[in-house]
Amino acid sequence: MTAPKKLFIKTYGCQMNVYDSERMAEALGGQGYIETQNADDADMILLNTCHIREKAAEKVYSELGRFKGLKAENPDLKIGVAGCVAQAEGEEIMRRQPLVDLVVGPQSYHRLPEMEARTRTGEKALDTDFPEEDKFEKLKSWPKAARGPTAFLTVQEGCDKFCAFCVVPYTRGAEVSRPADRILTEARDLVERGVREITLLGQNVNAYHGAGPGGDLTLAQLIWELDKIDGLARIRFTTSHPNDMADDLIEAHGTCSKLMPYLHLPVQSGSDHILKRMNRSHTADSYLRLIERIRTARPDILLSGDFIVGFPEETEADFQATLDLIEEVGYGYAYSFKYSTRPGTPAAERPQVEEDVKSDRLQRLQALITHQQRAVQDSMIDKEISVLFEKPGRQEGQMGGKSEYLHAVHVANAKVNVGDIRKVRVIGSGTNSLSGKLV
Ligand code: SAH
Ligand code: SF4
Ligand code: F3S
Repeated sequence: MTAPKKLFIKTYGCQMNVYDSERMAEALGGQGYIETQNADDADMILLNTCHIREKAAEKVYSELGRFKGLKAENPDLKIGVAGCVAQAEGEEIMRRQPLVDLVVGPQSYHRLPEMEARTRTGEKALDTDFPEEDKFEKLKSWPKAARGPTAFLTVQEGCDKFCAFCVVPYTRGAEVSRPADRILTEARDLVERGVREITLLGQNVNAYHGAGPGGDLTLAQLIWELDKIDGLARIRFTTSHPNDMADDLIEAHGTCSKLMPYLHLPVQSGSDHILKRMNRSHTADSYLRLIERIRTARPDILLSGDFIVGFPEETEADFQATLDLIEEVGYGYAYSFKYSTRPGTPAAERPQVEEDVKSDRLQRLQALITHQQRAVQDSMIDKEISVLFEKPGRQEGQMGGKSEYLHAVHVANAKVNVGDIRKVRVIGSGTNSLSGKLV
């Protein structure tokens, strides 16, 4: 028997890439690969990349440069680039970095086994098609490994919204929903392998409209189907667009006990002028009214959002409107970014905001968010929350997990197992986590 080949995967970007990396490891598992955490002893290195901001894309080239030495030591080492940079810059990657053997876009990774075989004969392999066949179905499942208690499950991919700043519609293609039965089969399989919490993923997950037995299912209908799976305790979904927050989904937040009280609902800006220029098709006010309806359905829901500062033409008054919106919502988490020019997107051609203005705004916005996050976290003290334990903490006897609101929680001297869900009273609030004790 030959020794298994070793695969090192490094994942950048969003959770969809995390899910894809798992699937790619399974696909290459069929080729005799096992995963390693160490690039130094790998036979294949795969970078699963992100193109969303310039820095993310540039990182790939600097990372690739670092593999030169490894390739010199081991000429059989194969280097592959997957994900959104692969999709956007496929051939350019091969040109800029000759040590790359393989480039595979996010819609083609079910073809990896055959591409890998080609690289073994000394060829280069590039595939950035948007093929007709369902990549999820084509993937061989490598021997089913036991799983941790939480898992991602991609249900929808791509985007038709074309926000003026964003590359996703170009790198991930048009919006496609997976059929419900395949998702449910995958979910049952995950639960059999020990998963207790599933996060449904999609670039616009709430636009889900996958085929079901009696016609297309909405995301809420899919959630209710998942709700029937014994052993599955928690359901989450991300990322949602405000315009696709359907009534049945809002209602499910109030009535489906397995659906966790957490919602990531990016708004990007609080200025109607900027929202319009971003092609977001919602206003600050329609967003705020939506939040109100969601909170009526589920008053304790924790909200998170994404913000872009320094979008072309953003004035100080526009930026102030974003701060005002943040004040009004009260986010439990928020992710904020300086606008990054992406070639090929409409906003790239417009007059840009100066870098130091962007930096200043980002700093101010983050100060407000940090303050808010901390206030939300501190308000949890003395409350009883439910924690899904995921792994031992850093200190002896300590266990860590996540609350229904997605706060990281540590419990000292916790006699619980990974995968247990227990009531915990919050006794402290740290920088990025809560501490508690079992009730
Ligand atoms: N589909 C999701 C988010 C996709 S990208 C949605 O519509 O909300 C994740 C986040 O990256 C976005 O919400 C946005 O805040 C940020 N982002 C996208 N393009 C960007 C750009 N060109 N510059 C800075 N941030 C960007
Ligand atoms: Fe990008 Fe907008 Fe689509 Fe989100 S909705 S992926 S920000 S184009
Ligand atoms: Fe990045 Fe592609 Fe995700 S650009 S954020 S990895 S969809």
